[in-house]
Amino acid sequence: MASQPHIELNDGRQMPQLGLGVWRTPADDAASVVATALDAGYLAVDTAAIYQNEEGVGKGVHGREVFLTTKLWNADQGYDETLRAFDVSAKRLGRDDVDLYLIHWPVPKKDRYVDTWRALVRLREEGRAKSIGVSNFMPEHLRRIVEETGVTPAVNQIELHPRFQQLDARRVHDEMGIRTESWSPLGQAQFLDDPTIKAIADKHAKSPAQAIIRWHLDSGLIVIPKSVNPDRIRQNLDVFDFELDAEDMAQIAKLDSPEGRIGPNPMTAGF
Ligand code: A2P
Repeated sequence: MASQPHIELNDGRQMPQLGLGVWRTPADDAASVVATALDAGYLAVDTAAIYQNEEGVGKGVHGREVFLTTKLWNADQGYDETLRAFDVSAKRLGRDDVDLYLIHWPVPKKDRYVDTWRALVRLREEGRAKSIGVSNFMPEHLRRIVEETGVTPAVNQIELHPRFQQLDARRVHDEMGIRTESWSPLGQAQFLDDPTIKAIADKHAKSPAQAIIRWHLDSGLIVIPKSVNPDRIRQNLDVFDFELDAEDMAQIAKLDSPEGRIGPNPMTAGF
């Protein structure tokens, strides 16, 4: 396999650009799914407290070199609550520290994300979260935490795929020095049979999923496709021997749609 690309974060650390996502990976399967991915050569795994599979993920990564991300759940927002929730996640993962800790959603209605962010800053100072970031934050939430704490998140992980390309958010992230990470990068497999994607995949003798993953990589995004299937896990990593050309990128740009969102809207998602 060709060497895998890394992206430099605003704290100077390097993050693998491609990792395994484990949302909806059942707790009982998580250890073997993660071990399969690491054996195949994955360098990063992305989980969250709410996925309820941190323990299995911890078993799968045990003793292995991996860039591990987890996320703070909404119910645990608040300064002290966050510090406690981090301890619980770390214990479940069987580690003292994680590579990247994210606030999962801003939950603007609750208005606790600034205090929550202060707790993440402390966790980074203590070295327990080597890098810190957010997920599903809109530009106004990003600006507010930077204004109030002076600390810019390393990453904002947002819904992003060819049907929902988030150009405005990506522009703001670039201006602020925040890396964009794509969740549901394959659109939850809902448009793998799209004729544009299929034609590009065929042209490169790759699968539609591989073409989409390559689009994220060639767009400078961090990408975490989820699969529980060993063949598809390996397939999703086999993307370092081709690149999309300008025409492919222009074709995929046309698939973007304001109606393309699959998941919740971060402004109203209250949980
Ligand atoms: P499975 O876990 O059975 O492989 P996303 O990462 O956008 O959330 O997409 C995840 C969905 O895409 C899951 O349903 C997953 O199913 C499916 N999937 C992942 N990789 C592939 C692939 N290479 N080909 C087809 N479907 C895939």
